[in-house]
Order: sequence, then C-alpha cells, then structure tokens
Amino acid sequence: MTSIPNEFIDELISRVDIYDVISTRVPLKKAGKDYTGLCPFHNENTPSFTVSQNKQFYHCFGCGKNGSVIRFLMDYEGLDFIDAIKDLAQMVGIEVPVNSNNQKQLHKNLYAITEKAVRIFRHQLKEHQVVLDYLKKRSISEQTAQLFQIGYALNLWDGLMKRFHSNEHSQLLESGLTTSNDHGRVYDKFRHRLIFPIHDRRGRVIAFGGRAIDANQQPKYLNSPETPLFHKSNELYGFHLARKHSKNNYVLVVEGYMDVVALFEHGVKNAVATLGTATSEQHLKNLFKVWDNIVFCFDGDNAGRQAAAKALFTALPLYLDHQTIRFLFLPQGHDPDSYINQHGSESFQKLIDQATPLSDFLLDHLSQGVDVDSIDGRAKLFHMAQNPISQLPQGAFKQMMMQRVSQITQQQFQLAATQPQRNSVQIENSPVKKLVSLLVDQPSLHKLVPKEFKFVEFDYKGVALIDKIVEICRLCPQIGSATLIESFRDESVYDYLVPLARQYNHLDDKQKYNEFKDIITYLQKRARQSQIDSLRERQMKYGLTQQEKQQLVSLLTEHNKTKRHGN
Ligand code: UTP
Ligand code: MN
Repeated sequence: MTSIPNEFIDELISRVDIYDVISTRVPLKKAGKDYTGLCPFHNENTPSFTVSQNKQFYHCFGCGKNGSVIRFLMDYEGLDFIDAIKDLAQMVGIEVPVNSNNQKQLHKNLYAITEKAVRIFRHQLKEHQVVLDYLKKRSISEQTAQLFQIGYALNLWDGLMKRFHSNEHSQLLESGLTTSNDHGRVYDKFRHRLIFPIHDRRGRVIAFGGRAIDANQQPKYLNSPETPLFHKSNELYGFHLARKHSKNNYVLVVEGYMDVVALFEHGVKNAVATLGTATSEQHLKNLFKVWDNIVFCFDGDNAGRQAAAKALFTALPLYLDHQTIRFLFLPQGHDPDSYINQHGSESFQKLIDQATPLSDFLLDHLSQGVDVDSIDGRAKLFHMAQNPISQLPQGAFKQMMMQRVSQITQQQFQLAATQPQRNSVQIENSPVKKLVSLLVDQPSLHKLVPKEFKFVEFDYKGVALIDKIVEICRLCPQIGSATLIESFRDESVYDYLVPLARQYNHLDDKQKYNEFKDIITYLQKRARQSQIDSLRERQMKYGLTQQEKQQLVSLLTEHNKTKRHGN
C-alpha cells in the first residue's frame, strides 16, 4: 500500500478538474453533459473517449480504459501511483504529506543494506570453488552470473551479519536478510546457498532468493519475506534485465529463477519469472507497460496447465485488442532451463513460435470433457463461456470470441454481437448491482442501509463488494464518488466500478434516493421471507423453541404490515 493517506487523495481529486488535466493532452469537444475525443489509449477514427466533469472520470467505450484523473496520468504519462499524485499536487500547489518522506528514508537505508549484501555475496561466490563448480555444472557463465549478480551465502549463522556494523543490524533484519527465532536470537536467513538478488523494475535490489547447493538441503529455494521494499506478488524476477536486453515486442513468463538465467545464457534475453506465486493482475499490468505480447511458458504437466488456466482468467479483463497472450507448454519433464540446455535455443524458439493463442487455450479449457457434438455438450460450453467472455473488455477480440462460441454452439449471445453497446455496460441487473451503481454514484446513499444489514447473506453476485463499499462509506461518511472508486484501485473490480457509476445518469438525486430505498425495502422483505421459510421448515421437522416462535410471530407481523401498505 502507499503511504499517502486517503484524505489527501480525496482533497487532491476535489481540487483538480479532470477536464483541465485531460484537455491539455487530448483535444476534447463538448457533447451533452460530457466531453468526447479520440482515445489516446488505442487507435480510432471516431471518438469513443468521454470525460465527465460531473463525475470526474474518463471512460473509453472502445478500449474500456477508464478511471479517475490519477489513473489517467498513470496510463497517459506512464507514471506510477505516487508520481501521479506528486504531479497533481504540484499542479494545484499543495504539499504531499511528509510521512512519505520518512518512508523514503527508510527505503533508502534498506537499499543501501541490500546493495552491500550483494557485494558481499558476490565476493564470497568467487572465493568458493564448490559454488563455482555448481554454476559450471548448471552451464552458467561467469558473465551471466555477473549480470544477474548471483552470489553465495556462507555456511555460517552469522556470516553476513558480522560483515555489518552493529548499528545496521536492525535494518538487516528489516530487509529480511537475517531472521530471529522464538528466543530472540538473530541469525543469517540464507546459509550455504546460491543467491539470486531480486531487482525491482528500476534495477534496485529489493530481495533475495537462495537455492540449496547440497542435494539434501531443504527447502530447495528460500525467498526473502515481505519487507517494506518487497511485495512478492508485484515483482517479477529478471524484469529489469529483460526490459534492457529484449529486442522483441514480447516477453516470456517462466516459473523459476534458473529458467530466466539459463534462457539468458542461451541468448533468450526477454524472460521473467514469477516468484513462486500465481501470475497477478499487477504482474500483467507491469508487463503490458513494456511489451504488447506475452508468452507464458509452463511445464507440460497438470500443474502447469492449472497455472496457465489461472493466468488466463487473471488476464481476461486486461486483454486489449492490440495485445496478445500465448501459452507454451513444454514436453513432460522439462522446464525452460532443462529444455534449452538439452535442445538449444533454435528448438526453443520454434516452440515459442508455435505457442497456443489465448483464444484457443480458452476454448480448449472450456471444452474440456465437453462433447460439442451433442446438444448437451454445446449447451454446457455456451453456459461456461458466458462469464469468461463477459470479463473481456469491449473490442474486436470480444466480438470475435462471441462469434466463435456462437458458431460452435449454434447459440446467439444476448449481448448482441452486431452493434457494440455504447451507453450501457452489460451488467446483470440484480438488485445488488443496482445498489452498487447507485452507491458509487452517490456514496451518501449508504445511510439508507440499515446498520444490521449484511448483504453477504443474499446469494446475489457482488454481495461482498457492496458490504465493503458500505463499510468504507461508514468509515468515511463524506467520501466522494471518485475517491470511493479510487480506493479500489488495486483490485480487479476497479474497471467495472466506473461504468457502473454512470448507470443512473438519467435520474435526478431524488429519483436515485427513491430507487435505492425501494431496493433496500425489497431486500429486507426477501430476507424476512427466507427467515420465515426456514423457521416454518424447522417447525414442521423439529418444532420450535419458545424464542423461535416469538421470532416467527414478529416476522409475520412485520411481513403483513408491509403487505398492507402495498409495498
Ligand atoms: P522449481 O522447483 O521448478 O525449480 O521451482 P527450478 O526453477 O526448476 O529450479 P532448479 O532448476 O531446480 O534449480 C520454480 C520456482 O518456484 C519457487 C522458486 O521461485 C523457483 O524458482 N520455489 C520452488 C520456491 O520458492 N521454493 C521451493 O522450495 C521451490
Ligand atoms: Mn529447473
């Protein structure tokens, strides 16, 4: 998380006008309440990019990009969140709160620690023949080891610690290089291991992975814990080198440190590895900032297929028309390291060229165990395809996927493939979705939600989301629409919330209020009805306790009362 407090972001959004920021970068024309222009995020001839001054949001109906002024700067200028905030703050002449300066200092100190550790590990590697032999055995040249700054941690409890001054020991601990046991004894985390420094996108060392050198040493890989510098699910091993050396417009995503290094050794210099985690949305966003095309490279076994499916579903909402994702499955028993060492880079390149496009992999995945020659099978496939396809952003790819599924299943999509929908986003209009739309539009409506009301008890989609929104509104009762949505910036729902906030543009405030109230009343009635039903069922099966009888009576009274009032 960032160190910038929400109130500050709130303040900032309220002081900046999104129109001012965007119109200096993209020519805009007034169209009704909003402004439109040619979308800066994809190629188009007719404007589908709109900016709402009212809502302080932009939205492109062509490529699906949308968000607040902060998101715009991030995407348009390629800034990260903090830098976008800083730019905006400067624009309106306010100071970013100082607590980020403390954090900066802390980070600076920790970078100094990790850089020093790298030098120590590097030096130790050169002095230990066993480790040099190990590298040789794995076909890693000294040149490549140098580039990746591969090192060696001594087989000692305090080999690293004693190289640091005692006033650096607390930072050493904070950087995850030492660790402490239950008795408070502090010792080196990495012992007798080959060390892979993990760099951030700018090439600064933020963490370490250590590989066992002896065959019986467990675990095989040990990684730094989460630290102020290191958030495992955001980082990719080898990113900085791949960015620097890649000559292609695609990146390979592999599973292991050794895979990245071995590929590099063989001249395949555009590979990165996830750090023992699944591919996250943040990973994909970071990769798509540099490359338009991704090739996932997984083992050919079941685990590899599962990891691929997971990556596939994470990627769907982000998958824009100018990007491609493909999947490469290696022959059984191989990982990229073993494959390229055995078969060479030309053979590996062939596999890359033949990798399966996302569309095929998605269809294969959905059709698994389904017989498309039978009506039942086609119905099942059609059903299974709904959700993944609805996740895709609007665009040609989505249209074509719908067409393809239609051809196979001989079914038409409700979402009308012929005419791209312009003014409404397809959402299932459940009461909960409606409430979410109204809430992100007018957060003050949260006051109409009864205190004891828990949406999670209903079986609609999105109940967890609405509970969360209500919770945020209660914590921060004055919160505005833009800030509310911005507080979901790290989550996948973010891209849905903006279009939702426009759903009720045609209503005035009073009508929105009434609509919200009606839905709550309806849900209360439903909740009551289901309580009544379950008490009655209990009554028939086991009889009721005195307390349950009273509960039933009061529920029924309440129920009849609302009935007589007609609503
Ligand atoms: P693998 O077990 O496939 O190892 O783990 P590898 O990359 O082929 O390594 P070598 O060739 O045996 O040296 C893949 C990745 O999973 C994480 C590491 O990030 C590793 O690179 N991992 C694996 C761990 O974090 N801990 C483990 O004990 C094993
Ligand atoms: Mn391996």
